[in-house]
Amino acid sequence: MRKKVVAGNWKCNTTLQEGVALAKEVNDLVSTSDVVVILGTPFIHITEVVKTISNSAISVASQNCAAEPKGAFTGEVSAEMVASTGAKYVILGHSERREYYAETSEILNKKIALALENNLTPIYCCGEPLEVREAGEQNQFVINQLQETIFNLSVEDFKKLIIAYEPIWAIGTGKTATTQQAQEIHKVIRDAIAAKFGQAVADGVSILYGGSCNAQNAKELFANPDVDGGLIGGASLKAADFNAIVSAF
Ligand code: PGA
Repeated sequence: MRKKVVAGNWKCNTTLQEGVALAKEVNDLVSTSDVVVILGTPFIHITEVVKTISNSAISVASQNCAAEPKGAFTGEVSAEMVASTGAKYVILGHSERREYYAETSEILNKKIALALENNLTPIYCCGEPLEVREAGEQNQFVINQLQETIFNLSVEDFKKLIIAYEPIWAIGTGKTATTQQAQEIHKVIRDAIAAKFGQAVADGVSILYGGSCNAQNAKELFANPDVDGGLIGGASLKAADFNAIVSAF
């Protein structure tokens, strides 16, 4: 059985004090043992948030890591540094990083390799912009993203990943993919994985939905057979909403 996962992506929000308070609230509220709960915090919060968490269902993710292992790269934070804080996951390939920080597939491949080398689990994001969806070309667009990046991994490494499908037009817009749209493309992704790595690998990988997923719509989205949880932005900043999403399976 593949894992159910709910991962918060706090993005560039919360001071250290606010972040620790939020993590404490989430830790106190969440009472699941069968959902993997992840908090994607800013880099500088990770150490304190790891200390705050006593609930064994909860782990911490960084939202990025450097494409180089170490050295003269001012302002960068390496995968090894992230791992040394106690984080277990790293969100990679988020559309905001691809779009605002020119993160190409080539850069992403370096980051994914470094994350895996340091025993961090990449939460690999993919998803199409609005004009691609309107042209009906979303399936091929997303498959291309996979082919340029995670389909180059060995099967052993691929099995370690979590995938998040996030249509860019749904991120932070309040516009969610319909449950049919989500199921359809998650199935396309799983079928592409099956064709590349085999059905057993495809059946084992968790594919999360992201894009205005909230306490109201999570239940319907997670009821889809190929939707294994969510990557949650805005709604992860309120502990009660985030807990409601964790409880939505
Ligand atoms: P959102 O963000 O839930 O605020 O739409 C999701 C994400 O970008 O991961």
